[in-house]
Amino acid sequence: MNFHIVVLSGDGIGPEICEESKKVLNRVGEVFGHKFEYEHQDAGGIAIDKFDNPLPDHTLKACQTAQAVLKAPMGGPKWDKIENKKRPEAGILGLRKGLDLYANLRPVKLFDALKDASTLKAEVIDGVDMLIVRELISGIYFGEPRGIHGEGKERYGVNTEIYRYPEVERIVKLAFELAKLRRKKVTSVDKFNVLESSRLWHDVAEEVSKGYPDVAFEHQIVDNAAMQLILKPKSFDVMVTTNMFGDILSDEASMLTGSLGMLPSASLGGKVGLYEPSHGSAPDIAGTGKANPLAMILSVAMMLKYSFHLQKESDAIENAVEKVLNEGLRTADIAKNGEKTVTCTQMGAAVISRLN
Ligand code: IPM
Ligand code: MN
Repeated sequence: MNFHIVVLSGDGIGPEICEESKKVLNRVGEVFGHKFEYEHQDAGGIAIDKFDNPLPDHTLKACQTAQAVLKAPMGGPKWDKIENKKRPEAGILGLRKGLDLYANLRPVKLFDALKDASTLKAEVIDGVDMLIVRELISGIYFGEPRGIHGEGKERYGVNTEIYRYPEVERIVKLAFELAKLRRKKVTSVDKFNVLESSRLWHDVAEEVSKGYPDVAFEHQIVDNAAMQLILKPKSFDVMVTTNMFGDILSDEASMLTGSLGMLPSASLGGKVGLYEPSHGSAPDIAGTGKANPLAMILSVAMMLKYSFHLQKESDAIENAVEKVLNEGLRTADIAKNGEKTVTCTQMGAAVISRLN
């Protein structure tokens, strides 16, 4: 089969990890008889430099008509002084909104070989396998009014956290559907004891849960959830939460897998899915060969599964990653002190060589 993918290769380490991910996909094509066609478009910092716009219309249009979007991380200090509306991050949010990607899936799964790579004790994280389902196009990231007003010391900044009933209902339902395919437990995370938007979230989650008597359900308040994640990470199966809490908790949870460089993500909801690593563009190590391409390679595996329904092919990538880790290959972020490391390209090549 032929698949048309729009590729946004991003900033910082983006282009390097993107290159390895495409090579992996090409290898999958050879082995399983598919053809993946790439259309490169600009978004983020590079689009600001070229078009003075982090998400040019032609880029969004191309994404909307693709079969899937593969996106590398964007942004960096070069664009830090720009006002929020024109920053690379605004391009990312525009993409999410423009593709109606209300659900961000971040699987937090510890590869056995990385038990000792985490700063947490191996016995605490051994067997961690959870899925964070983050609401992605509402909440405080998009709420109005927003802005900075006033002059000098009278200045104030405003953001609005808002959740509407259907926005909560659809994401919580999706979390339950996904839990049915897993260990059948959903934890809904909010701050209902302080925030009204969270009170609504809490009540709607509770209501939705009634429709899934076979799935265990619990609420957690976000501060407690942050603690439970490192105290008893194995107690989680599916965690569903708001845009901002999901952003924060998924970075925290990534350390259960050894490194943020291991955490893939899929953003779903509209016609076209978007796949990207959960980590940032790491401009400090761009071009040094130190980047870990695995989160983006694992995002490609998610693309095969969710957008193209190629389960075998998706599993093949995950198995290849598992093999190279078992064989001891480590990029700098997952290496222990004194352990030998490989470069981004070497890691990509190793995964490809194990794909068959
Ligand atoms: C993420 C990132 C983004 C977010 C930024 C880059 C806009 O941190 O995908 O987690 O906050 O959603
Ligand atoms: Mn984040």
